[in-house]
Amino acid sequence: MADDLVHDRDAAWALLTEWTESEALRRHALAVEASVRAYARKFGEDEDAWGNVALLHDFDYERHPTLDRHPQDGAPVLRERGYPEWFIRAIQSHGEHTGVTRESQLERTLFACDEVSGFVHACGLVRPDGIATLEARSVRKKLKQPSFAKGVNRDDVVNGAEELGVDLDEHITFVIEALRPIAPELGLRG
Ligand SMILES: [Fe+2]
Ligand SMILES: [Fe+2]
Repeated sequence: MADDLVHDRDAAWALLTEWTESEALRRHALAVEASVRAYARKFGEDEDAWGNVALLHDFDYERHPTLDRHPQDGAPVLRERGYPEWFIRAIQSHGEHTGVTRESQLERTLFACDEVSGFVHACGLVRPDGIATLEARSVRKKLKQPSFAKGVNRDDVVNGAEELGVDLDEHITFVIEALRPIAPELGLRG
């Protein structure tokens, strides 16, 4: 049943790892999952369902890394596995190029957490204690260095927080705190 599937983390993890060999991509999925779950808790929303959307948002990226295929070509796969349309739509909406606009709180949360989770993760990887003592202030400084984690789109970071209606510093702090409990799984020291 689709309702059970959306809450089934083992099924989501199995699909992610079936399609994704890269440890970096798996860690990205885990980081976005932790951030989105934390917001679901904060908003009193369906944490398991939101977490699985986040876990799977890039599941097809390793096989389809180009804008003409990711995340669009993942949609029929999710449909075939039995995921409902709202779940698939939320994943599509994280790609600016898909034309799927972000309408729901889940969609705004996923977009707001995607790039910033990757960026905070990158900040932690170059620190001796990972993200244990990382603060928003130093993340903001790094955001101003174009050469650092240059794959992270700075506009998406700023716009994501704005769309969600959260202050960027508070958002960064919230994401750092969401990632701390899973620091070892993210390969972070400290
Ligand atoms: Fe993506
Ligand atoms: Fe992503």
